[in-house]
Amino acid sequence: MVLNYILTGSFFFLVLASQICSKDVADVGNRNAPDSLRLNPGFNIHKVVETSKKLPSRSWEFGTESEALLELYNPELSIHGNNPSGKDVYKPDQVKALVYAKEKIVIGTGANALSDDRKYANAAKDQVEYVYGGAPRWFNGAISHRVDHPALWADFIYMAPPYLAYCGVVENNATTLREAVDQISLYHDVLRMNVTTNATGVPPTNHKAVGKGSWEDIIDINPNASDSGLWSTGNGWAAAGAMRVLATVIKAPKNFTDGFRQDAITRVSSIIRDILDAAIRMPRADNNLLRNYLDDPSWFGEISGSSVLASTAVRLATFGQEIGLTPNEAYRYAEFAQNIRLTLGNGKHISASGTAFPAINPLDWNDRIEFTQGSPEDNAFIGLLFAAWRDCVQANTPGCWRYGTHHLRRSLFISYLFLLSLFTTNRSVDPEWVYAVYCYFYYVIRDRWEQNFEGIHY
Ligand SMILES: *[C@@H]1O[C@H](CO)[C@@H](O)[C@H](O)[C@H]1NC(C)=O
Ligand SMILES: *[C@@H]1O[C@H](CO)[C@@H](O)[C@H](O)[C@H]1NC(C)=O
Ligand SMILES: *[C@@H]1O[C@H](CO)[C@@H](O)[C@H](O)[C@H]1NC(C)=O
Ligand SMILES: *[C@@H]1O[C@H](CO)[C@@H](O)[C@H](O)[C@H]1NC(C)=O
Ligand SMILES: *[C@@H]1O[C@H](CO)[C@@H](O)[C@H](O)[C@H]1NC(C)=O
Ligand SMILES: *[C@@H]1O[C@H](CO)[C@@H](O)[C@H](O)[C@H]1NC(C)=O
Repeated sequence: MVLNYILTGSFFFLVLASQICSKDVADVGNRNAPDSLRLNPGFNIHKVVETSKKLPSRSWEFGTESEALLELYNPELSIHGNNPSGKDVYKPDQVKALVYAKEKIVIGTGANALSDDRKYANAAKDQVEYVYGGAPRWFNGAISHRVDHPALWADFIYMAPPYLAYCGVVENNATTLREAVDQISLYHDVLRMNVTTNATGVPPTNHKAVGKGSWEDIIDINPNASDSGLWSTGNGWAAAGAMRVLATVIKAPKNFTDGFRQDAITRVSSIIRDILDAAIRMPRADNNLLRNYLDDPSWFGEISGSSVLASTAVRLATFGQEIGLTPNEAYRYAEFAQNIRLTLGNGKHISASGTAFPAINPLDWNDRIEFTQGSPEDNAFIGLLFAAWRDCVQANTPGCWRYGTHHLRRSLFISYLFLLSLFTTNRSVDPEWVYAVYCYFYYVIRDRWEQNFEGIHY
């Protein structure tokens, strides 16, 4: 009788389950969230985002948060979306990222053009002029991260090149776009770690081959101000910034990038891949996160670098074939990111108020004390990771798995109850139980099919 019930209803329930289960997954923990935040990553993204707006107090933190809000609430306008050059007209108050940025921007001149009473567009142009023509440069032409003397920081790649690239496209100025691409190569030439020839070499000043491809943090004309460690967040700034430039080149009108498109895609994607490959190879800390200095086992695993590198890996996987990745390669990047996302969702890294931890002290990356009161970069990076993952799920990229761990555990539990009731009673089956077991089978079949149970830690 039971078997009969299940068999006859199977088609109907399978269809129903696929509908209801997907809807259900989307709602868990995020009932009051707007549609763009509804997918359940295994933690409360709505709280993380609300908290992330309150934490920043410095220019780059406001900038990163604005970018995160754009990718979260207006994915179509972000550089990873379908309409990045904004041909549609939006009112500023329709775009949360703009409302937020407008509250924070102080307009000045020259090096601080965007940091008193002129129009935003003019200030943006001034800023490009300064970065391109006014800022100090390194011997090889790399633009300095600092105004007073030449210094190259990996952080620069998230701050300036994506901006130059985007302004180049909207201003129809190919020179600016090419400059953005070249800056990534020039920085790479200087900051890419050299494998140590010193067998006793100890990180963070000396690096073994495992780190090949990753970047040192800071090279300054004053060696005392340099940081030769492979700073996890620094590598994240570099890879994520390069990723935005790559997306800009790919989305720019083809006739605009004539003659350098392919070369730019090849160069930038291989730099990003080198950094990600090194991060993937690195032994993780006990909490399954990347260490603050990637190759230095004396450091704790922290979430800033982990989440920003994961967000980059997801974006890369989503581009897939377009940048010459084989399906297996794309899968590997997506899987690395899933693993970090699930770690964030394991209940030990995001507080009930939406604060992520442990982070590195954002103003002192040598501070050995785990920072738990909320790092601005951190919460914004988790927003970037969520947005990248959501877009990846929507693009149906293999390896981008849609469920949170809560959901899997819940469906396992429900189906366990179902089986239990089946074996201990002989009443006819309640349709709810049938629904539960189908929901479960639906997950198992779908996920096995995508081979998504591999490499996932609970
Ligand atoms: C392109 O942008 C650069 C940097 O802002 C500027 O110096 C140059 O004059 C621009 N070229 C054109 C053709 O507008
Ligand atoms: C690696 O060596 C090259 C050549 O000596 C140098 O230009 C570069 O700055 C070095 N990179 C680092 C991170 O020290
Ligand atoms: C090798 O590295 C160790 C630790 O950084 C240092 O003490 C030592 O002097 C180095 N040896 C050489 C030959 O550079
Ligand atoms: C670097 O630090 C050393 C030791 O503290 C000091 O003697 C030297 O003058 C410093 N160099 C510069 C360029 O500040
Ligand atoms: C590219 O093509 C578009 C439409 O065909 C045209 O409006 C635009 O001016 C072209 N841009 C360049 C740089 O040739
Ligand atoms: C199970 O079915 C048998 C036979 O139909 C009946 O005698 C028995 O009472 C039922 N047990 C329960 C727990 O419903």
